[in-house]
Amino acid sequence: MIETLDTTVDFRATMGRLATGVNVITTCTGSTPIGMTASAVCTLSLEPLQLIVCIANHLYTRTAIAEHGRFAVNVLGEDSEPLARNFAASKPDKFVGVETIDGHGVPVLKDAIAAVVCDVAEALPGGDHTIFVGDVRHFEHKVDSRPLLYFAGAFRALGVPD
Ligand SMILES: Cc1cc2nc3c(=O)[nH]c(=O)nc-3n(C[C@H](O)[C@H](O)[C@H](O)COP(=O)(O)O)c2cc1C
Repeated sequence: MIETLDTTVDFRATMGRLATGVNVITTCTGSTPIGMTASAVCTLSLEPLQLIVCIANHLYTRTAIAEHGRFAVNVLGEDSEPLARNFAASKPDKFVGVETIDGHGVPVLKDAIAAVVCDVAEALPGGDHTIFVGDVRHFEHKVDSRPLLYFAGAFRALGVPD
């Protein structure tokens, strides 16, 4: 059944039928690590290698990325729902107990199944969000990994075997 809906809440419910992966976007201010959960991540270009992330304008993470000029997309695996919930909360000290890999100018989560480090190429207006276009500087992934998914307002895992 397809319903015609017109409120913000119902638009979110409709777009919630678009299953996504779950990521933690990391950056830093000085030596302080910053991170937030985000599903609005998409490959953009292969030549040059680019991706986009969309971040709400009111979030501190948006300001931090714009100022630092570098961020990482950390793709979460199916066992990382606690990490997704932790980084979706608006609170300090999100990195307590979270293992990170240094050396890329931004923290990379050790438990991520894939990570892409980017420099900000453009910050474009997108309604109440900012669309960051990232030039890819580093990428890596774990083979045989399974993703954490988000669908209809809930975290999920793939329902099929490898
Ligand atoms: C599954 C999931 C996906 C999300 N995706 C996004 C997103 O793509 N962009 C965004 O701005 N916020 C997104 N959020 C909301 C942020 O994670 C949330 O506002 C967080 O508190 C931001 O961190 P901050 O307040 O420390 O900046 C998402 C939340 C969840 C649970």
